[in-house]
Amino acid sequence: MKGIILAGGRGSRLYPTTLAVSKQLLPVGDKPMIYYPLSVLMLAGITDILIISTPDDLQQFQRLLGDGSQLGLNLGYALQPEPRGLAEAFVIGADHIGGDNVTLVLGDNIFHGQHFYDVLRANLTDLRGCVLFGYGVTDPGRYGVGETDDAGKLVSIEEKPRKPRSNRAITGLYSCDADVVDIAKNLRPSARGELEITDVIRAYMLRGQARVVDLGRGFAWLDTGTPASLLQASLYVRTLEERQGVRIACVEEVALRMGFIDAQSCYDLGRRLGASEYGKYVMDIAQELG
Ligand code: G1P
Repeated sequence: MKGIILAGGRGSRLYPTTLAVSKQLLPVGDKPMIYYPLSVLMLAGITDILIISTPDDLQQFQRLLGDGSQLGLNLGYALQPEPRGLAEAFVIGADHIGGDNVTLVLGDNIFHGQHFYDVLRANLTDLRGCVLFGYGVTDPGRYGVGETDDAGKLVSIEEKPRKPRSNRAITGLYSCDADVVDIAKNLRPSARGELEITDVIRAYMLRGQARVVDLGRGFAWLDTGTPASLLQASLYVRTLEERQGVRIACVEEVALRMGFIDAQSCYDLGRRLGASEYGKYVMDIAQELG
């Protein structure tokens, strides 16, 4: 299974903050936003990951994460020259995907929940077609909205519908088999000129091969699209971290727990982060688990 993180877009709902900085590099709590989707892929056991961003921003991601070897990962980078839609990630990433299955996660999606590792493992092994993750929200019209039959098979999907048929948003985490490259290559741009992820999903749905896994109420799926929701996400992370003394999406810890790196390397990564509380946590975890 390959991974892709799409960290493009203009982040225009966060202007002026995002005029000079990529949205996905803004802090959520005490770490850059992209750490959250990156840790999701890592929890799914994916180490071969392509990060796609804009010509203005790609270098900053490279500066942050390098080739990924420090985390036991193999990170590659690719450009999306214009914001031509989420589904273009599968076209840009065609070589990276090769003949493999692939999980795409949007760089601004924050997931948190117990046993996420188990949920991912249970649903991504022996993948045929595509697997999506649904989440009940009060404002489904802001997202892709899916309806399923009793078995969890997708029966309808609409992008930002005026009259949503369900309250189930389709989150920005998509696992697909290798057919996705051809499906995406054959899409026509929508009315707004983009290759829509919902059209990819619809193609799988028409084959009877799109399944939705509901993330229940024990999960948090947080929005970061507006100043208010970004602040809420930060407060959520900080509240849990302070209360429990654990960290969400600490990529060094995830790498250690997943066995991608050893305790000594983890400790060294923490030490390099100097005096920050985050760095101290990484060193503590390395000692605790070492
Ligand atoms: C995109 C997708 C939408 C999905 C959402 C999840 O919307 O088009 O289907 O539900 O991501 O974050 P965007 O946030 O780019 O408007």
